[in-house]
Amino acid sequence: MYKDSSYWRQWQELFESRSERRLPTPDDWPGYVDLPRSLARSLAIFQLGESGGGTIIEQARASELPHIDECYARSMALFVREENRHADILAICVQQLGGELIRKNWTARLFVSARRLIGLRLKVVVLLAAEVVGICYYHLIASRLPRTAMKDWLTELVADEQSHLDFHCCFLRSQADRRWKRWLFVIVWRSTMLLAAVAVLLDHRAAIRDLGIGKRAIWQRWMTYSQLAERLIVRTGANVVCIP
Ligand SMILES: [Fe+2]
Ligand SMILES: [Fe+2]
Repeated sequence: MYKDSSYWRQWQELFESRSERRLPTPDDWPGYVDLPRSLARSLAIFQLGESGGGTIIEQARASELPHIDECYARSMALFVREENRHADILAICVQQLGGELIRKNWTARLFVSARRLIGLRLKVVVLLAAEVVGICYYHLIASRLPRTAMKDWLTELVADEQSHLDFHCCFLRSQADRRWKRWLFVIVWRSTMLLAAVAVLLDHRAAIRDLGIGKRAIWQRWMTYSQLAERLIVRTGANVVCIP
């Protein structure tokens, strides 16, 4: 467990083992340009959201919270680098779809503002909401694409986001070490997740409609993953797997 000094080192080693992956090479499938324009815009918003993240690394380094150490801070730095790689992959996707990258967007700003306002624990709650959103959304987009390189890239992103979800759940579980903290987490988590889901549903409604993704299907996926994350964090006594 996280009281053991080797605990966060295992996460560090997992992220290190993936840190040398190269960016994919664009393929020449001609059908990309026929996909809905709204998909390029939607992925450009996610591309913006996957960029940045430097302040949380500093915060993790300087943090005096219990149950974390320098290996956690290094893992956080490697995690941010992995998210920045996602931004680079999504930039290639946007380019292949004939879209343009963006510098500003209200949902990306909402996530960034929430991360700036608050301490490390609440920042990680916001990151966890972004992982839940990303896992489900990338998966649903990949499921709508024919067998292409882009489908494989998005599938790889889903696998990364699933391990990010576990990483953040392990941290939050280590911090929710009292009953009242677990209650507080549940209130903050459900409110954050609800706000994130509504915002993404609104901002990406054109792509969701054009790709034939049912709003109910995506909502149910988000709620299923958010309940899974909640259980990983607050369930006591259970043999919760909290290793990479
Ligand atoms: Fe990501
Ligand atoms: Fe992630």
